[in-house]
Amino acid sequence: MIIQGGMSVAVSNWRLAQTVSRLGHLGVIGGTALDMVTARRLEDGDPDGDMRRAFDAFPFRAMAERVWNTYYVSGGKAPDAPYARVPIHGRECPRPLAELCLVANFAEVFLAREGHTNPVGINYLEKIQTPHLISIYGAMLAGVSYVLMGAGIPLKIPGVLDAFVNHEPASYPLYVVGAQDGDDTTMRFTPREFMEHDLPPLERPRFLPIIASNTLAVTMLKKANGKVDGFIIEGPTAGGHNAPPRGKGPLSESGEPVYGERDRVDLDKMREPGVPFWLAGGYGTPDVLQQALDAGAAGIQVGTAFAYCVESGLRDDYKQAVLAKVARGEACVFTDPVASPSGFPFKVVQLEGTISEEAVYLARPRICDLGYLREAYRTPDGEIDFRCPSEPVSVYLSKGGKTETTAGRKCICNALIATAGGPQTRSQGRLLEAGIITSGDDLTGIGRFMHPGSTAYTAADVIRTLLSGLRD
Ligand SMILES: Cc1cc2nc3c(=O)[nH]c(=O)nc-3n(C[C@H](O)[C@H](O)[C@H](O)COP(=O)(O)O)c2cc1C
Repeated sequence: MIIQGGMSVAVSNWRLAQTVSRLGHLGVIGGTALDMVTARRLEDGDPDGDMRRAFDAFPFRAMAERVWNTYYVSGGKAPDAPYARVPIHGRECPRPLAELCLVANFAEVFLAREGHTNPVGINYLEKIQTPHLISIYGAMLAGVSYVLMGAGIPLKIPGVLDAFVNHEPASYPLYVVGAQDGDDTTMRFTPREFMEHDLPPLERPRFLPIIASNTLAVTMLKKANGKVDGFIIEGPTAGGHNAPPRGKGPLSESGEPVYGERDRVDLDKMREPGVPFWLAGGYGTPDVLQQALDAGAAGIQVGTAFAYCVESGLRDDYKQAVLAKVARGEACVFTDPVASPSGFPFKVVQLEGTISEEAVYLARPRICDLGYLREAYRTPDGEIDFRCPSEPVSVYLSKGGKTETTAGRKCICNALIATAGGPQTRSQGRLLEAGIITSGDDLTGIGRFMHPGSTAYTAADVIRTLLSGLRD
């Protein structure tokens, strides 16, 4: 009944997902940028030995050792030493990056599944297309039971899941701005080019697209190239990226997108095809689970409430600072229409020292060295290149980008990994990347999960509270 929503980067890490799944609900790993997260954990010396255990379980031992030897730093890197540069994904993936990405996705799912037999899910963003094939295969090697995907229209994912069951090759169309007929924009992945030995067939994960409209549900059911097993219907109060409003009206007085009647999903229509659905966005209170069930939902997906529990991967200083703000009644979330290079509205917690602060944002030199949110475009020579509106403006313009697209854009790739506790350091330690925190409008109410006199709560507290409003 309760899905703990996928929260990238590494907020819903294996630890949180494992806790929720052990409690009998669905723990979902945030699958975006796991390659980079894993590389940084290895460079931090893997102090608890968790990554070593997961790498030892990877079916292709030589590959696991190559990745380990590339990134592992015994005892951890020096605090002012920068993290290594991980290669950036493109239409074709360099082999060392593909291997890192495979092992990383495997490791996170392996650890989330360790010690119990309940299902675990993984979440990706459709918009971040280049790592899809490799990430999904890596997660399937570890027995992931659900793949959830938001921020786009993932029509071709079911076919990928079907192909990987028997380790067959799969392809995925890369969206390329300006692509012309005849351009090869297809990404391909052939498991057997990576397998060191044969393996039995894999479990086919169930596929749950995250949608914000009836139209998208119908499109997915009619046009997807394989089975869609259910939907998450996410409203605009949810943490993370939100679907843009359907109307192109002006922003609110505070500068946020305005949602209206056309953005409401008709649940009567959602019930018609008989496919299960879960409701997300502001479902973190006890009474709403029962309301969701009464409306025909199979349950709810909750993110914000889990983001601040002790098991989450949100770094501790930020977690404490936000919880203190919540306690003082000062917590505030701004739906930023431009911060994310993805072009989707992005919910940002206003917190001093993070790039939600104008001064912190402006002080950061524009650097794009992680590249997950880059957009593919066709160059005048007919090649595929990538650009990001938060990279240096002159570079972006030289790639045909428009000046107005750059205003207010934030490097949320670097900021989100900083929020997960792996900030990049530059200029011999003089520059440390600041984080960014995303949460839903429900943030102000998370005090409800704390016991009186306590300043922290667990995933079990969240689940107990959510279930307390059920009639039976
Ligand atoms: C910190 C955080 C990160 C998130 N990251 C993702 C993500 O990577 N992919 C995704 O599909 N949804 C993401 N979400 C959305 C959640 O999965 C979930 O649907 C949403 O939080 C539910 O609404 P709520 O925040 O009101 O509980 C994120 C939410 C939060 C709070």
